[in-house]
Amino acid sequence: MKIVVVGIGMIGSRHAAIFREAGHEVVTVDPRGGADHGRLSELPFPSSVDAWVIATPTAAHLPALGEILRRCPDARVLLEKPACYPTEIADLVRTVRRHPRSRIVVNDVYGHSEAVRRFAESVRRLSESDPITKVTVEFTKNRELDVANGRFVDTQYGEAGYEFFHMLSILRSVLPADTYRRYLRTLPALVTPEMRVRTSTEDLPDIELYASSAGVIGHADLAGFAFSANAAREHIARSVIPYGTDLRYRFADVELGSGKHVTLVFEACYGDDPDYKNKHAVHIRGTGTWRHFTISGNHFKEALLRQLHLLDRTAEGTAVMRLPEHRFLAGLGWATSTVLCHVI
Ligand SMILES: NC(=O)c1ccc[n+]([C@@H]2O[C@H](COP(=O)([O-])OP(=O)(O)OC[C@H]3O[C@@H](n4cnc5c(N)ncnc54)[C@H](O)[C@@H]3O)[C@@H](O)[C@H]2O)c1
Repeated sequence: MKIVVVGIGMIGSRHAAIFREAGHEVVTVDPRGGADHGRLSELPFPSSVDAWVIATPTAAHLPALGEILRRCPDARVLLEKPACYPTEIADLVRTVRRHPRSRIVVNDVYGHSEAVRRFAESVRRLSESDPITKVTVEFTKNRELDVANGRFVDTQYGEAGYEFFHMLSILRSVLPADTYRRYLRTLPALVTPEMRVRTSTEDLPDIELYASSAGVIGHADLAGFAFSANAAREHIARSVIPYGTDLRYRFADVELGSGKHVTLVFEACYGDDPDYKNKHAVHIRGTGTWRHFTISGNHFKEALLRQLHLLDRTAEGTAVMRLPEHRFLAGLGWATSTVLCHVI
């Protein structure tokens, strides 16, 4: 396929490399240099393009999508997340409606991850006879170095703009569809800036999503056991990932009525295995029982190739944009900025 990647920064360059490696012809567009073209308008024959990737900063997504669809109304577009800023959601919907032949998919890495799929399968099987009582998802990394370099500064979604799309994808994979929809419509009981989002109502399991880009670990007890290297264990035991350390503490834990836990732990071989980024584990722990299995594979790559396949096969007019999730996250961004204003 011929694929145009618009924006070849941190993420767009990974898209380009993965598609090239898979044998596709990749053309790049970026004004910063090092790309085949500096601007979309320089592309000679856009109608011969099979798929487009938009991986510019979020503020430039909507103008890039508008330009692509103006020149190619039936374009197949893989759009990086978030699809757009909260105030642009109505414009995004209008742009897509004006191009009923287009096909648009918002990148959902964890929604297409084999590790998440195998974890969810275990949860679904066990929860048929042992209902889910609590779900905790944590994505913690010390990003202060990135922030100092101008990355991970989302002025509109705030902290919710980085990891929360991924965390919602994992939550969506373990909850029944109607329960997940109810979750997105439920006002959280607690939202803190760091950011902890806790929901507790009678008609949902207790749910906590926690992410810290300052490296402050929220739930060392739920997944710390899975890490093998001493350095990782020490950081987790202190509940702090120090500045400049690239350890990522990411897990999803489901507690069932019997007290059993099903826990997906990403990258638990950090510090022990050079390929740790592509190895994840699911642990199933009950009273006196413990089993686990490992899932290997690059889930960013898997997700891109699956979504490209989906875009190629999907009917005209298909748009998978996760708008309820964007609105939920916009609400969280708004809630934390309000909390911060009150604190200041
Ligand atoms: N799916 C994920 O896991 C994931 C992870 C990180 C970032 N992202 C998303 O990917 C997008 C890009 O993030 P990044 O970290 O790669 O940013 P980045 O700043 O590293 O790269 C963006 C690139 O886009 C280029 N650019 C800017 N305007 C452009 C335009 N009009 N046309 C073409 N190129 C243009 C810039 O020059 C830059 O090279 C963001 O929307 C971000 O939220 C997704």
